[in-house]
Amino acid sequence: MDVISVIRTKRDRGELSDEQIDWVIDAYTRGTVADEQMSSLAMAILLNGMNRKEIARWTAAMIASGERMDFSSLSRPTADKHSTGGVGDKITLPLAPLVAACGAAVPQLSGRGLGHTGGTLDKLEAIPGWRALLSNAEMLNVLEGVGSVICAAGDGLAPADKKLYALRDVTGTVEAIPLIASSIMSKKIAEGTGSLVLDVKVGTGAFMKNLDDARELASTMVELGTDSGVRTAALLTDMSTPLGLTAGNALEVRESVEVLAGGGPADVVELTLALAREMLDAAGLKDADPAKALADGSAMDVWRRMITAQGGDPDAELPVARERHVVTAPSSGVLTRLDAYDVGVAAWRLGAGRARKEDVVQAGAGVELHAKPGDSVEAGAPLMTLHTDTPERFEYALQSVEGAFDIAPAGKDFSATPIVLDRIG
Ligand code: URA
Repeated sequence: MDVISVIRTKRDRGELSDEQIDWVIDAYTRGTVADEQMSSLAMAILLNGMNRKEIARWTAAMIASGERMDFSSLSRPTADKHSTGGVGDKITLPLAPLVAACGAAVPQLSGRGLGHTGGTLDKLEAIPGWRALLSNAEMLNVLEGVGSVICAAGDGLAPADKKLYALRDVTGTVEAIPLIASSIMSKKIAEGTGSLVLDVKVGTGAFMKNLDDARELASTMVELGTDSGVRTAALLTDMSTPLGLTAGNALEVRESVEVLAGGGPADVVELTLALAREMLDAAGLKDADPAKALADGSAMDVWRRMITAQGGDPDAELPVARERHVVTAPSSGVLTRLDAYDVGVAAWRLGAGRARKEDVVQAGAGVELHAKPGDSVEAGAPLMTLHTDTPERFEYALQSVEGAFDIAPAGKDFSATPIVLDRIG
């Protein structure tokens, strides 16, 4: 087998054979296919696509590149959730302890933010002492003892995806449905969860900008999961405006704790409960009541034990950025648009995210919103507050929020976009 013939097959819109796929993934993981060759193949896949058979084989080959975890020793059914990424998407933080409080085991292997989307691990690292890196044995212990664990995926899990994802990130080949679906599902299937709920984001702040693409991605992933024996469903959810009122690491932890304490923004609570119900259904725990577990403090109790088990102090003061800048409303009326992508870019530029993998994020940086689409605003009143430790970043962040919102005269009809747009599975 040679890599040039594999690249030519896809370049010329052909179907890759099982042998070609197995060989190229294995050779790339071992380093005998070079980055520039894989990059060329990834671009051919982005431009010419793969059929479902090719995607299934590609996913299986990525799973086979590493180890498979096994949760069969646990006394509870496992349920996991994966979001395709958004702005202000802190849902994993309240969701994992909530679903655990309702009787499932939640092994939440999470990632870091890159670009304008935030990462769960960066958010939790704002909590003093909290550790993202756990051995497989530690992870199982927390899962059995507490019910939920949120940690980094070990190096042994789908190493082909680790290498390929880093390559796609710098070669303009992230936004390919076959590559996103196989990347996410190879990690989730290798992780060994019994059930999985996918939160496929749609809108300006998401990889999928329209519903048709999001449906295609969701149905591809649901089919991959189901064919591998994982009970899988997907919710398509709105990402045209940020979730909740914060985007940034410590800011989002604070908001998540508010949700666990029975408060928090309505959209965050609604999506947390919708995903919790899906996860509990998929795990065979249909009678559990997640709204009750939020209200009676049992989800908060699991959160506190989970943070403590991973070295964190749930009572510690969260970091606060040294500098603030308030953006005010230029006119009075109704806020009709607040763009997720622009707010995400502003948070990133303020220091909440990283431009390169090795960059260090600022725990306190980000954007705090004082109004959401549909709210009335007064000229001169605060619309959002920008937080950073490095005030020289304000100017660049402000360029991103300048065009991020529209205010219409009071009385103009406004219809809110629902959070959950569709369900597949
Ligand atoms: N998340 C992943 O894990 N992989 C992708 O390709 C996109 C989002």
